[in-house]
Amino acid sequence: MASSYSPNIRQPAIQRSHARARNTGYIYVVAGLGALNGLLFGYDTGVISGALLFIRAQFHLTPAAQEIVTSGVLIGAVIGAAISGLLSDRWGRRRTIMATAITFVVGVLVATFAPTIPWLVAGRIIVGLGIGVASMIGPLYISEVAPPKIRGALVSLNQLAITSGILLSYLVNFGFAANGSWRWMFGLGVIPAVILGIGVIFLPESPRWLVKRGRQNEARGVLHHIEPALTKADLALTIQDIQQSLRVERTNLRDLLAPLIRPALIMGINLAIFQQITGINTIIYYAPTIFQLAGFHSATASILATVGVGVVNVAFTVVAIWLVDRAGRLKLLYWGLSGMILSLFVLGLAFALPGARHHVGTITAISLIVYIASFAVSLGPIFWLLIAEVYPLTVRGMGMSVATVANWAANLLVSLTFLTLIVHLGTSLTFWLYGLFAIGTLIFVRFRVPETKGRTLEQVQRFWSDKAA
Ligand code: BGC
Repeated sequence: MASSYSPNIRQPAIQRSHARARNTGYIYVVAGLGALNGLLFGYDTGVISGALLFIRAQFHLTPAAQEIVTSGVLIGAVIGAAISGLLSDRWGRRRTIMATAITFVVGVLVATFAPTIPWLVAGRIIVGLGIGVASMIGPLYISEVAPPKIRGALVSLNQLAITSGILLSYLVNFGFAANGSWRWMFGLGVIPAVILGIGVIFLPESPRWLVKRGRQNEARGVLHHIEPALTKADLALTIQDIQQSLRVERTNLRDLLAPLIRPALIMGINLAIFQQITGINTIIYYAPTIFQLAGFHSATASILATVGVGVVNVAFTVVAIWLVDRAGRLKLLYWGLSGMILSLFVLGLAFALPGARHHVGTITAISLIVYIASFAVSLGPIFWLLIAEVYPLTVRGMGMSVATVANWAANLLVSLTFLTLIVHLGTSLTFWLYGLFAIGTLIFVRFRVPETKGRTLEQVQRFWSDKAA
């Protein structure tokens, strides 16, 4: 899925010439290793769903304590996302990724061997720090090393890695469900972290960051490796393009509030919040718990049903990647949000109607599948894609980082309140509440989100200035 819209102000030299003479295998290996960040993000957030069933039983956790165990990761992620921009600028992308891998390993080990709940929560907070940084550095690194023509496809690889990581964690949960070994569920997360840590040794530094540090020669070497057919003149032009973009990139938070940029900022923050308050992670983190509420009595059966949810999530992310440049972002958002609204209301009904009680298991399973498929073709990938597209280059990093923090904070809020809402409002009203938020999202998309498919940056910016007029 090659995005025809490039967020660069000027077409870089690398895009103007020799587009076909790329070192494609090498680029995919580099982007694939970069996307391991997404895999870890997915694995370490998804794994809690199955592990929670056994931790809850072993430590006799109340709903509030379960929410804290689930949300530890998110507290870390909010902090990680907030410092990720700073770290990656100071240390460079490679060293930041290396630090992320080490953080993952430490956090996973603390959680795996935790003797008590506070230790477990501490381990999960450390893992969360890694996730917060990974969620920002993954797309950032890939977008900086990818040739512009295939950048859209490569950045979307990151969402595919997130959903694959979630699925992998569900499979591991299923594998260990019979003996209830939640320590193994957490512990296996160390493998992708070690692969990332070793892989990063072979990753090139981002040419963009190298130029920023005045290391033009090294940048030239990396660019040459990615696109061997570039001539000396092409390379010089590319470096010049990067320098040019850096000149306008020196910004501070106040620049984000400039009248022409503010609507994009508000859109990014709103979409970040909507992506979460429509309930996705109540399903990703609590699916087996929901299946148990719906009458699946054995932990193994509900974890198996959850694997189905994970497969659908990956499959429909592939569908989204295929459709997003064909149908456009908005159409996918309309279809997906409609499916989410419908399934959330049906899910609520299944728990509300006395007549539905016998079928609540089946209706729950079908509704969750429809919900996940709808999310995976819409809000899942498109939120991350849009925040990489709508900001002018000058404020892109800052804008992305603000939206990422908002996303994790909203995620935290939903995960901290879900079980409590179920206890106090009841299951039906809780899902209907998310359904109402999904209706709000649809209205917001209708009036506030631009179609970026096939548009140039200038056209997208014109959308904002027309709105401001
Ligand atoms: C969201 C995550 C979610 C995942 C599910 C991502 O786009 O940001 O919060 O867990 O999708 O596939």
